Amino acid sequence: MDKNYYVTTPIYYPSGKFHIGTAYVTTLADMLKRLKKMQGYDCLMLTGVDEHGQKIEDKAKDENMSPQEYVDVQADAAKKLWKTMKIDYDIFMRTTDEYHCKAVQEIFERFLKQGDIYKGEYEGWYCKPCESYFTETQLVDGKCPDCGREVTKMKEEAYFFNMKKYADRLLEYYNTHPDFIKPEYRKTEMINNFIKPGLEDLCVTRTSFDWGIKVKSDPKHVIYVWLDALTNYITALGYLSDDDSKFKKYWPADVHLVGKDIARFHLIYWPIFLMALDLPLPKTIFVHNWFVMKDGKMSKSKGNVIYPDQLIERYGLDATKYFLIRELPTSQDGLFSPEEFVERYNFDLCNDLSNLLNRTISMVNKYFDGKVPEYNGLQNEVDEDLEKASKDAITNFENEINNFEFANSLKAIWSYISRTNKYIDETSPWALAKDEESKEKLKSCIYHLVANLREIAILIRPLMEDTSDNMLRQLGMSNNVTWDSLKEYKDIKNTKVIEKGEPIFMRLNADKEVEAIKDMMKK
Ligand code: ME8
Ligand code: MG
Repeated sequence: MDKNYYVTTPIYYPSGKFHIGTAYVTTLADMLKRLKKMQGYDCLMLTGVDEHGQKIEDKAKDENMSPQEYVDVQADAAKKLWKTMKIDYDIFMRTTDEYHCKAVQEIFERFLKQGDIYKGEYEGWYCKPCESYFTETQLVDGKCPDCGREVTKMKEEAYFFNMKKYADRLLEYYNTHPDFIKPEYRKTEMINNFIKPGLEDLCVTRTSFDWGIKVKSDPKHVIYVWLDALTNYITALGYLSDDDSKFKKYWPADVHLVGKDIARFHLIYWPIFLMALDLPLPKTIFVHNWFVMKDGKMSKSKGNVIYPDQLIERYGLDATKYFLIRELPTSQDGLFSPEEFVERYNFDLCNDLSNLLNRTISMVNKYFDGKVPEYNGLQNEVDEDLEKASKDAITNFENEINNFEFANSLKAIWSYISRTNKYIDETSPWALAKDEESKEKLKSCIYHLVANLREIAILIRPLMEDTSDNMLRQLGMSNNVTWDSLKEYKDIKNTKVIEKGEPIFMRLNADKEVEAIKDMMKK
């Protein structure tokens, strides 16, 4: 069996602070990597920044910096955020790095030589002050969509990639590889919106600005930023460099995680580029939806942007990551609302999880002096049902992950947490404790609670490692756990919980915190 796992995030445009949308997909990649690592895979996670193009050149100008100075500052800021979020990436791509630029140039020359890229003329509506081309449909009332001024029809020499040539092969690939695109409806979108109407050839060079990788054989042309950016998934592994051992080991990627905004680039152009390079395609491209606000898309001008570091500072890393993964369904956009954030915190994290741990630890102390009783084989119907719930939780979690239903994977854990809370009511340990004859029943009850909590700590670990550590520590257990540790349900021995439990999540004052989050959004 192939025990490697290569997961990627998009490489982000470094044009300002990263908001929670950017943090979402990085958190997701990190969670998947940590899960696979616990399952014994040799993992590689790639993230980074996409540093070329007109947009970046303009941003740098606004800040009175050279583009390189500007991206250097931005790349450091990005790394700092990932450090705050304890993101366990292996490679941080910077597309201005020389090894990447060199490989992109070579790829371009190869396409040219093969006849996949040809020289032609680019025609479009040009805005002189903005130095930008627009298509007919991008214009607003026939004027520049950015500055509102007059545009003129212009032509310039440019290179094009012959996409048409690959259209049938791509469609055939879609149809013979059901796991290639997830969720399925994204494939239908691509076919109906782009492939069936006929693929257009893609203009892959620009001459209107400088900040990019130059075409080796014709340096007045700069390579289109998407051809540059997409290849990062292989150049990061050393493709076309002196050391391509990582490429040999990890390519094809197990999964590219991308937002719906960039689905077309990843589901159409990227596979075609790879076909032209005669390379295998990634096993899966997962297209995720967006976080939106009550008033629509997040944007600075609307004053509704939320940044991950603000939430982390006030509510902690794990609560923030929990919310991100829990609230973005695979089938539609997810809503970020302060009310929902506080509710999830108070209900899921505080009431359900934190209180379960606390109640259990105090009962172990009260009834057994802190020593966790061993499994005594006593089985009534309730215990059997609980043990079945334990098996189901693991299976359901794994199935949801395999189906790319990440919010549901957390739901599976939390329904197990609820089931365990219900077990306390069903068994009434406080009543059992009053009767010496029920001693064995009480032991069994407390054992099951501790065993479940241990299991919960392992299940949440890929996403919430600090919380998992904290739970295991309070339960008096080692945090040296793997996914296989889940099989040891009945094997807990010689365990002593801490004398006084510490709440892992404290109840928030809902009104106050909703206001606090709203203030963050205004800043
Ligand atoms: O497109 N909700 O970079 P980018 C969820 N450089 N995710 C969101 C989001 C939101 N509201 N907003 C952004 C680029 N994202 C290119 C990528 S890859 C070879 C080149 C996430 O900085 C989402 O994953 O605009 C989206 O695809 C990505 O950020 C785009 O980041
Ligand atoms: Mg974007």
